Amino acid sequence: MSINSTSFKGNSKLENVLIIGNGGRENSLAWAIQKNELVKKVYLIPGNAGSERINKCERISIDINNKNELIKKLDLLKINLIVIGPEVPLANGLADFLRKKDYKVFGPGKDGARLEYSKSWAKEFMRDANIPTAKFWKVNSLEEATKIIYSLSIPLVVKADGLASGKGVFIPNSKDECLKAAESIFNGKFGNSGNVVVLEEKIQGPEVSVFALCDGEKYILLPTAQDHKRLNDKDRGPNTGGMGAYSPTPLLTQDSLDTIVKEIIEPTINELKKRNIDYRGVIYFGLMITDVGAKVIEYNCRFGDPECQTMMPLMDQSFVSLLEKCSMGKLTGKEKINTSDKVSGCVIATSKGYPNEYNTGFPIKIGKIDTTDCQIFDSGTSLNEDGELLTDGGRVLSIVCQDKDFDMAFEKAYKNLKEINFDGIYFRNDIGHQVRENFSQEN
Ligand code: AMP
Ligand code: GLY
Repeated sequence: MSINSTSFKGNSKLENVLIIGNGGRENSLAWAIQKNELVKKVYLIPGNAGSERINKCERISIDINNKNELIKKLDLLKINLIVIGPEVPLANGLADFLRKKDYKVFGPGKDGARLEYSKSWAKEFMRDANIPTAKFWKVNSLEEATKIIYSLSIPLVVKADGLASGKGVFIPNSKDECLKAAESIFNGKFGNSGNVVVLEEKIQGPEVSVFALCDGEKYILLPTAQDHKRLNDKDRGPNTGGMGAYSPTPLLTQDSLDTIVKEIIEPTINELKKRNIDYRGVIYFGLMITDVGAKVIEYNCRFGDPECQTMMPLMDQSFVSLLEKCSMGKLTGKEKINTSDKVSGCVIATSKGYPNEYNTGFPIKIGKIDTTDCQIFDSGTSLNEDGELLTDGGRVLSIVCQDKDFDMAFEKAYKNLKEINFDGIYFRNDIGHQVRENFSQEN
């Protein structure tokens, strides 16, 4: 959809910023945004127990689906810029609604969010724009899936088409497992998100995350990052939302990044424009570096979590102005992202049982933290009546540290983790192993 508005509420102001979402990602965005001296207040809907520990931040308890109440509140608070963190409100068209009310919004409309909420649509989009990605087959029934699975000789991965909180991808080891995965999706494991199944050629290589801030016409790139999706050390165990990350990643040299820009990023932005999609937000390119070059594994219409927590401390105070420029369609594309010359590493502390069933409500004890270039962004926490911090999610805390090199950054992060405790705390011990020179893993 094209966005006509040139006259926004609070046109050139940045005093009051609203962030929608309740995770570590949104807290790290708030932390980076409040650095700008023009910003007087950062509101979070709903935020979590860590949000109000951040300078200038205040939580607001309101249901974003109650549109009348929401607009009344935003008008009352004189909100100048709205940043939408998670994919679900974007897929539900919240950005479109707020833009119609003349708010400056960072986050794509429903049409752009489709890059994430329909994997089959995203694959067809890439095919049309000639963007490198794994081969795919879109299937509408188990019979169709059976035919394809047993007629192909290449290994496949199986994906639910729609949003599934990061759980809709299966990496089977045999054709029978493939079929079982497709069957469970068609049988309703992910509700309507599984009405269509995407079968994909299984490809191999390290994964990296690249983020482009877009204003509908132009874009600028953030520092690159690498996530750690598997639950256990040595990249074993089930996929999770992300157990840790580091940024920037030396896996992408300037040369390889230039190729990615030419073959993936610019064709994506051009294809969006061709389809009349005025994309004002971040495009997250989940890439796999294969033997024949980078291929897109997935698009997301939001910042990655925990990549965002990892990258935000590298930003200077001008970051929020870039988000604002995107929301107004005013990027020049020549802006420099001013980043610290340090590197950043993040380790996530989770509840026992995550990414499957887990219990919450355990008190979190935090001892003596080295706060120099270290942040703790709450991912899933709450407060009880006595003001005690409790676990309230699968991913509980993001421990982020910056330093001259990754060895030093992760040494600090793990030292701080020793000072944190709650019943069932779990974290990987090898985050950043790819870039830590002093890291050795036995077995
Ligand atoms: P997605 O939610 O699409 O990012 O998929 C989750 C994870 O599954 C990715 O980070 C990859 O590790 C893996 N994956 C997804 N698609 C493929 C593929 N075509 N080949 C190999 N691994 C894949
Ligand atoms: N870190 C992966 C994601 O946000 O989807």
